[in-house]
Amino acid sequence: MCGIVGIVGKEPVAPLLVDALKRLEYRGYDSAGVATVDHGHMDRRRAEGKLINLEKRLKEEPLAGTIGIGHTRWATHGVPNEANAHPHFSGDVAIVHNGIIENFWELREELIADGYQFSSQTDTEVVAHLVSREIRNGAAPVEAAHNALKRLRGAFALAIMFRGDDNLIIGARNGPPLAVGHGDGEMYLGSDAIALAPFTDTITYLEDGDWAVVRRGEFAIYDMDGNPVHRAPQKSVGTAFLVDKGNHRHFMEKEIHEQPEVIAHTLSNYIDFSTMTIKPLKSKIDFSAINRLAISACGTAYYAGLISKYWFERFARLPVDIDIASEFRYREMPMAKGDAALFVSQSGETADTLASLRYCKNQGMTIGAIVNVRGSTIAREADAVFPTLAGPEIGVASTKAFTCQLSVLAALTLRAAEKRKTLSPEQVRVHVQALIEVPRIASQVLHLEDQITRVARELANVKHVLYLGRDTNFPLAMEGALKLKEISYIHAEGYAAGELKHGPIALIDENMPVIVIAPHDHIFEKTVSNMQEVAARGGKIILITDEKGARLSTVETMETIVLPDVPEFVAPIIYALPVQLLAYHTAVFMGTDVDQPRNLAKSVTVE
Ligand code: F6R
Repeated sequence: MCGIVGIVGKEPVAPLLVDALKRLEYRGYDSAGVATVDHGHMDRRRAEGKLINLEKRLKEEPLAGTIGIGHTRWATHGVPNEANAHPHFSGDVAIVHNGIIENFWELREELIADGYQFSSQTDTEVVAHLVSREIRNGAAPVEAAHNALKRLRGAFALAIMFRGDDNLIIGARNGPPLAVGHGDGEMYLGSDAIALAPFTDTITYLEDGDWAVVRRGEFAIYDMDGNPVHRAPQKSVGTAFLVDKGNHRHFMEKEIHEQPEVIAHTLSNYIDFSTMTIKPLKSKIDFSAINRLAISACGTAYYAGLISKYWFERFARLPVDIDIASEFRYREMPMAKGDAALFVSQSGETADTLASLRYCKNQGMTIGAIVNVRGSTIAREADAVFPTLAGPEIGVASTKAFTCQLSVLAALTLRAAEKRKTLSPEQVRVHVQALIEVPRIASQVLHLEDQITRVARELANVKHVLYLGRDTNFPLAMEGALKLKEISYIHAEGYAAGELKHGPIALIDENMPVIVIAPHDHIFEKTVSNMQEVAARGGKIILITDEKGARLSTVETMETIVLPDVPEFVAPIIYALPVQLLAYHTAVFMGTDVDQPRNLAKSVTVE
């Protein structure tokens, strides 16, 4: 995924580049690097691991220069080490890259045959050599970059700088986002508006196939044929302040605790409190006119979508086709023109989700996007945007974005039910009332943290965990397992409780904790039967339920976490909190890097 930045400025740029990279670290943190040109001389500093290592390097060996490029890496080709860290140099060319050059192997062979040597295992280095070869063959820098870009296949956002020219950076985009920032006698390039927020609030997004010539005080954008193109500048909503952890140990902890507030904030965008109805949506999606809804997303956002399938089908009688985006995009699903598709994404940049969106758009569907980052590519390409107002989510493991996505999806379900007349106005009001109560109940759930921490202490000693749930608690079980494995590295699986006997029950023994998410709902007794099956085989049950469920479960548990009573409709939003806290505290006991777990990145802009 990687984050890239470039500055053609007036002051020494190295500290500014590092500041911008701090805001991009969510895109990857395997290594980082910056390069500058100072009076014609080009130099770089790179370091393996987190940005802090690069900062140390720069303290020991500062870099001068008022023009520079920077990079924070999420490894695709080649291990995370200094040699593979960007910027990559070739001759007079320096390059930073986000994405994957798909034809890199063929280009690499061609360049090796032409005498070029590779000092990294990255796909990026071929681009540096290609541009450099063009210059060797007599092309001027801009022409050299353009010629090289035409040879590339795949996904890329690039910034290219040249030794001897301290007034030129070339940017290019095909897939991953790239924006030009407009300064006063200074210009910037960055993977997103947040990276550029301290410098400028006016940005121009490049579109796929665009490349830009950026100089101090001016820039021009071209298509791949070299024709000038106009892209309208926009005011960005990125915050200039780096979000901090406050009194919390980790961003994830802070973000879990912010949920009552951000859910309330999100709901207030959709609910008319005076009438207790869902506000009319200024959207092109007419829920009364569609026969089917397609939903696609990745990871946690996909689980939010999966929970909403139960809601849309149950309350709005609207059939939902849902798939993870990496499958959806290649599944060639038949779509009816005029039907609607919803895409759920915190970042609004996830490559597979974006590709699925474009597939549906080409099929003539109306596109809705539930996104947390306004101005993101998915938001910009959708016909209707339904924002989650979770604020910046920094912890790699998604928490508050998930519950805000659920809140928006719940509101959309009620709107659809109202339009399709599958719920009476009175029934809608009752459900809206339930939603309004969510922030208050969510704060009560956070008071259970001590008990959850005790359970987490036990979980930190095991190798495998099974999560079970039925109905909307089945996707939540999968979300619980995902959360646990991604930050604690404990292997976990989420299963539909009724599916246990078809295979996974073979795993149950006294060493296997089984976390059952089972509020006292319409299907509670069925889940109790599945718990009996686990208990009969010596499995240790951790039950997350409500008072009635605790009273009626009749199964011996290792621990029962009792949540306040909530209407069944909103239960998945509330039950998400103990699931997140369990994963968080287990990871803290394990001593892992909670906010930046190994091998992951916050924004996944590669396939
Ligand atoms: C897990 C997590 C990921 C994301 C997924 C989609 O905690 O955060 O599974 O949910 O990568 O990302 P977005 O929502 O940005 O499209």
